[in-house]
Amino acid sequence: MTDYIRQPSVTINPVTKRHCALGLGCWVFGGTQWGGQEDSESVSAMDSALDLGITHFDTASGYGGGRSESVVGDFLQGKRERVFLASKFFPGETTTEYVLQQIDASLDRLRTDFLDLYYMHWPNSSKDLRPVMEGLERARSQGKIRSIGVSNFSVEQMEQIAGAGRIDAHQVCYNLYWRFPEKDVIPYCRERDIAVVTYSSIAQGVLTGKFPREPQFKEGDQRPHVVFFEAEVWPHLYEGVEELKKVSTECGRSLTHLAIRWVMSRPGIISVLVGARNGQQFQESVAALEGEIPQRVFDQMTGISDSMMSHVPDVGNIFRYYP
Ligand SMILES: NC(=O)c1ccc[n+]([C@@H]2O[C@H](COP(=O)([O-])OP(=O)(O)OC[C@H]3O[C@@H](n4cnc5c(N)ncnc54)[C@H](OP(=O)(O)O)[C@@H]3O)[C@@H](O)[C@H]2O)c1
Repeated sequence: MTDYIRQPSVTINPVTKRHCALGLGCWVFGGTQWGGQEDSESVSAMDSALDLGITHFDTASGYGGGRSESVVGDFLQGKRERVFLASKFFPGETTTEYVLQQIDASLDRLRTDFLDLYYMHWPNSSKDLRPVMEGLERARSQGKIRSIGVSNFSVEQMEQIAGAGRIDAHQVCYNLYWRFPEKDVIPYCRERDIAVVTYSSIAQGVLTGKFPREPQFKEGDQRPHVVFFEAEVWPHLYEGVEELKKVSTECGRSLTHLAIRWVMSRPGIISVLVGARNGQQFQESVAALEGEIPQRVFDQMTGISDSMMSHVPDVGNIFRYYP
């Protein structure tokens, strides 16, 4: 399962002493949920990733209604063997047949015979998900998927399906401004050797430090609805970014670098996904992997994060999405 961490651009997590790898998040390539996106820009992000040795690509059937998978699939023609390819589906119906149809549809759009990792994107909380897990195991035995993931699951939801198959990875939202998975989800995964993959690792761009006190978004960008930008939350997080920028200036590294490396330094994290609109943005993320960052810098950041977390409501997920 963790083959994808054997790539040149990795750092060592000081707590677990395991490699922690960067991955390219491909949500924005879908074109519909981030206020528009040119395919040529998406291709430049993927080109940069491969040029710099980043080989974990993360997409989903839900990103732009399959558009992200198609853009990634087109790009990967002739390069498929170089990439650890992950995608996701939503268990709208909870039958084995439905899962197998979803996998075939993802494989078609991605123009490949297999996925390295296939996730249940969100739990369908009112349903028994064991038949879905059985479908995923069947797909694994058919060679269509090599490992099975869940995303946005609680411990109880993982327990519910545990007997029906083997969970290899859990994709969770985790960053300096969203640390709730530390309570039980990450410890549960660590105990069971489930690889924790983080999403929104730079808080959807917040932790680049680029947003002003009054952020503006293009029409169709989902970010105004995310918890970080809620009226009672954002003014505090904005001040937190200002504090984090002081740490960044003192240690001579960009805030983006520090935010990514902070996630990588946390116990139990196996891979850190960062989204990118273009090659330039992703080059900045990959540059985060260079050089040592002293533990005292991470400690300062954790202190700021601790005080920010009191302003972030524990509402289950950053989207307030409860399927
Ligand atoms: N499993 C799930 O439910 C779930 C949920 C969310 C995401 N994901 C996955 O995780 C990936 C990453 O998460 P995310 O995309 O939500 O958030 P993220 O990685 O925290 O932020 C990505 C966004 O930040 C901005 N950005 C990135 N690098 C930048 C730079 N150097 N300078 C300035 N801005 C920069 C870009 O948007 P702008 O340029 O538009 O500001 C980019 O789209 C996704 O692509 C997806 O694959 C999974």
